Amino acid sequence: MDEALPSSLQQSIGHILIVDDEPFNRELLHAILKNQGHETTGAENGKRALELIESLPVDVVLLDVMMPSLDGFQVCRILKGNARTAHIPVILVTSLSGRKDRLMGMEAGANDFLTKPVDIQEVLLRVRNAIYAKRLYDRLQESYEKLKELESLRDKLTHMLVHDMRSPLAGIHGYLEMIRLHGQMNRNPKIQRFADQALHSTSSLIEMVSSILDVSRLEEDKMPLNSAPADLVDVTRQAIQSLTGSKNECRISLECPHESVQVLCDGEIMRRVITNLLANALKFSEETTEVTVGIEKHPEEVKVRVSDHGPGIPEEHLPMIFEKYGQAHLRSRRQKYSTGLGLTFCKLALEAHNGRIGVHTEVGRGSTFWFTLPT
Ligand SMILES: Nc1ncnc2c1ncn2[C@@H]1O[C@H](COP(=O)(O)OP(=O)(O)OP(=O)(O)O)[C@@H](O)[C@H]1O
Ligand SMILES: [Mg+2]
Repeated sequence: MDEALPSSLQQSIGHILIVDDEPFNRELLHAILKNQGHETTGAENGKRALELIESLPVDVVLLDVMMPSLDGFQVCRILKGNARTAHIPVILVTSLSGRKDRLMGMEAGANDFLTKPVDIQEVLLRVRNAIYAKRLYDRLQESYEKLKELESLRDKLTHMLVHDMRSPLAGIHGYLEMIRLHGQMNRNPKIQRFADQALHSTSSLIEMVSSILDVSRLEEDKMPLNSAPADLVDVTRQAIQSLTGSKNECRISLECPHESVQVLCDGEIMRRVITNLLANALKFSEETTEVTVGIEKHPEEVKVRVSDHGPGIPEEHLPMIFEKYGQAHLRSRRQKYSTGLGLTFCKLALEAHNGRIGVHTEVGRGSTFWFTLPT
């Protein structure tokens, strides 16, 4: 049967912390484990065990239950309650084989049990399995750390590249304006049309570059907020107007109170948040359908909703849409220049304002993105 097991399981050798107030019990376990090639350290009580685990690379804790002052359950609970030690497997060694003690051990977070008097083969197998589980966890943790490092590297690289793209893009944009003007003066509609299209593409690129930089500034808390009392109805009207260039504006309807809705916020950032939500609603739904923006006043907050009759978002995609570069739908031609940063910007901007953002969505029926700001 052993042949089917991975060799890494069979070769699981590690450092074991033996916690028992009886010297004889410690010596016995020490001898059994040493003989198999494990390294061991003994602790005569719970307090000493908690001290040792801070400085030693412990893979498994063999923990006696009945000890004076801190008993095994208490030690186990402390180990499992500490993020630094929670992943270290704890095997409770108890002379009481009663169901109640096992339940209490499980409740305290113990990973496995041994009953005294211990059986040598059982000790070795349980310790081996615990070490194997710990090694798997360690490997996972290592991959996670590596992934985080890579992500940070990617962010730094993107940031550098994007930052350096801004000036040349602004230059291209300026020259294209001049070409368009030239076409206008020389009555050359072809040149004008080409310049218009190139200008449109450059503007999209400039916007992408700005969102990438804004998101990283917000992440690092380096985005200065110009907070001042602002009327959210006004801000929303400006957002709608900023989308007027497209043929979409007639699709947007605004539902808001008659009086002004004052909140302390950075009006320009809030305008961009609403513009992002509206742009998504317009982009992802059919051109014949309506998009609604609603503003509601509540006693302690203001709520803004942006609803569409688009495709909705499948539940499995929801966790990623507020993440950087997270996109739930395959890119279509309409999304040529989209990065998946719009909602990340909204989320970070609202966090900076102590607000909240969320979505109610139903596949095939539509989505309502909402956010709140404290008043
Ligand atoms: N109203 C909506 N209806 C359906 N899906 C949506 C809606 N809003 C957002 N999504 C989904 O969430 C994803 C992330 O949205 P986000 O605004 O962050 O990125 P994007 O619109 O793809 O790109 P960008 O905003 O950078 O141009 C979208 O790609 C889309 O899959
Ligand atoms: Mg978007």
